[in-house]
Amino acid sequence: MHDRSTSLPPGPPMPAALQAWRWTREPLPFLGRCRHRYGDAFTLRMSHAGTWVVLSDPADVKRVFTAAPDAMGASTASAVIEPLLGRRSVMLLDEPEHLTRRRIILPPFHGQRMAGYADMTAMVARREVQRWPVGEPFELWPRMQSITLDVIMNVVFGEDAETNPRLGRVREALVAMTEWLNDPRRLAVLAVLGPRWIRGHRGFARTRGAVADAVMDEVRLRRGAAAHGVPGGNDMISLLLEGSYEDGRPLSDQDLADELITLLSDGPTSTTLAWAFERLLRHPDKLELLRDEVRAGEDDTYMEAVIRETLRLCPPVPVVVRRLLAPLELESGHRLPTGTTVAPCVSLIHHREDVYPEPDAFRPERFLGTTPGTYTWIPFGGGVRRCLAASFANQEMKQVLSTVLRTVDLRAVGSASERVARSSIAFVPDRRALALVA
Ligand code: HEM
Repeated sequence: MHDRSTSLPPGPPMPAALQAWRWTREPLPFLGRCRHRYGDAFTLRMSHAGTWVVLSDPADVKRVFTAAPDAMGASTASAVIEPLLGRRSVMLLDEPEHLTRRRIILPPFHGQRMAGYADMTAMVARREVQRWPVGEPFELWPRMQSITLDVIMNVVFGEDAETNPRLGRVREALVAMTEWLNDPRRLAVLAVLGPRWIRGHRGFARTRGAVADAVMDEVRLRRGAAAHGVPGGNDMISLLLEGSYEDGRPLSDQDLADELITLLSDGPTSTTLAWAFERLLRHPDKLELLRDEVRAGEDDTYMEAVIRETLRLCPPVPVVVRRLLAPLELESGHRLPTGTTVAPCVSLIHHREDVYPEPDAFRPERFLGTTPGTYTWIPFGGGVRRCLAASFANQEMKQVLSTVLRTVDLRAVGSASERVARSSIAFVPDRRALALVA
């Protein structure tokens, strides 16, 4: 049989340890320089993350997102994903388990069920805003984390953590885990030693273990209630307990713990909200337009454009990754071998000058009257692994932005834009979106 040979596109010749360091410490400038030097597809060789082929040609992105589900596997290439979420998270399952799991957790994130969460989200946002100081600078990012955590806890447990002390314990454990991961000193060590370090770290095992224990206590409680004939609710735990694989097997305890931690670790929504405020506060004309629309309450056209532009300019997840389970041919003619990690690069695609003129400018207007391209606007990834909560996150961001704008008069602190900094899994504003209530 004729065996067509495989090859990888060119990439920087520097040592793998240095490439890993650059990727972790200055990812966006590093990616930009590589694209400038090597073109739309280039190969990075990183000591702990392995070999990645980074893609920024929309035609290549299309090839990845439209490939057959069994031609692309999950990838653990992203540094903290596996130790944080666990091996049985939907994000790390291969087919056919992956699609079965998606079907189980999908309902709350769509249609009527999703719409039912709008009022709860606005309530949580109002409650949070009332706690903000007046006249003194404070960081918005942690405030947004607090809101999105309360919202997702309501979805997962069907109850509010503030009124249920047991859930308060789960919340505390989750906050401690996030803080552990986002400590800048740990992020620096992670850059050098990679995910193996975190996997073997006793401190991390303790903090993640506390989350898993608290979550599983709740699972056991619901199981006990179900055994006594109490019907399950509309919450995520009930769905997971009632769900099963195609062959009828129920989800294991490990499945349940990893999935619940995955859902509860939602980081990108709070990060996007922080960036939306950071950008809007430095563009008072656009902030005013949005405020007028919110006050009028008639439609949300500009709001939609603001969210799309924020996700374009400041995508919280800069790359999506897949492991090839079959060779893949690129536009350039390179035929990538099975086993390669391919990484459609959200940041590079969103900065293509041919698609987005003046790509560094914050201009929500570019999305008025148009639908974003499936392969040129990819903040939620694409294909069978596209973020299953994209519509939910969109609704949540609209509710939070409009509640805040209706309730307080926010001002920027300092005129300089905030720079992109790295947290454990997302790209965040370096001063954590510093703001002031006037
Ligand atoms: C602005 C907010 C969000 C952004 C930008 C975002 C982005 C992403 C991205 C880039 C992926 C990977 C897609 C791919 O590989 O093609 C993903 C997957 C996923 N996201 Fe989101 N996400 C957001 C909010 C959420 C929320 C609120 C949840 C639920 C709590 C969530 C749950 C998931 C899950 C479960 C997956 C895995 C899907 C799969 O592997 O099939 N995301 N998200």
